[in-house]
Amino acid sequence: MGYIKSAALEETGYVVLDRYNQELDPQEWMDIEYVDWKSSGETRFAPLASAFGEIEVNGFWNHKPPRTDKDGVWIDSQVEKAPNLTRRAQEPGANVGRCRVIELLPNSYADCLYNLHQDDNNRLNPDGTGWVVRGFFNLTNDETSFFVLRENRTDPSVEYRIALPAGAQLIIDTQRLWHAATHLGTDPRYCLITSWESGPELDAYIAEHNGVNRVPNVEVDQEVLDAGQVEQSRRIAARAAYYAAKGQAEKTAMSEA
Ligand SMILES: [Fe+2]
Repeated sequence: MGYIKSAALEETGYVVLDRYNQELDPQEWMDIEYVDWKSSGETRFAPLASAFGEIEVNGFWNHKPPRTDKDGVWIDSQVEKAPNLTRRAQEPGANVGRCRVIELLPNSYADCLYNLHQDDNNRLNPDGTGWVVRGFFNLTNDETSFFVLRENRTDPSVEYRIALPAGAQLIIDTQRLWHAATHLGTDPRYCLITSWESGPELDAYIAEHNGVNRVPNVEVDQEVLDAGQVEQSRRIAARAAYYAAKGQAEKTAMSEA
């Protein structure tokens, strides 16, 4: 039967929506509660919706009973402090799974390439229902930072680099595309990440906000790109050697970002 997917994401695996006027909203992400959660990079997370409405960010499949990344339970104490973020996550009207703000400390392009990972949003997702994709709403004005998306983790020939000013709005098939952020600032980056179920509601939202599936790549010096690629190879090899020495299978995909 297969999953219901968005035609808008079919070609590249992402869309960029119109920019949101973030400056008009209060900085609600400073008021909500964070938990330590090591992801791709140095991160913490503040959940707005979780598996059972607790302030924790584990995958829904790690709870009992395990389930896919849908039907997240809104956390009253967090929603109270972040009504605008909640409104934006609910605006498409699509089913919401996990919804949280990520805090990411500054890193480099090479770090980002090493951090590239695919999400596992569709684990236990019943065939014939909507494929889970993720919205990324950048909250801080990270004018020199950018998202990196690749079809293949180690192949730079398909690499999308998407700018992350305040109000940038992306929807990404994060189970298909390898992804991570290069955050070159000095302060933490904050971004609202929402798991949405694909379907007519999300398609209408993408159309309403003029989603486009290609934007010009953020320009980065070829030297930096090449050095990042070399460093990614070096770190992947070092990690593989470490696990080989320990006689363990390497965990290839990191958890979340
Ligand atoms: Fe991720």
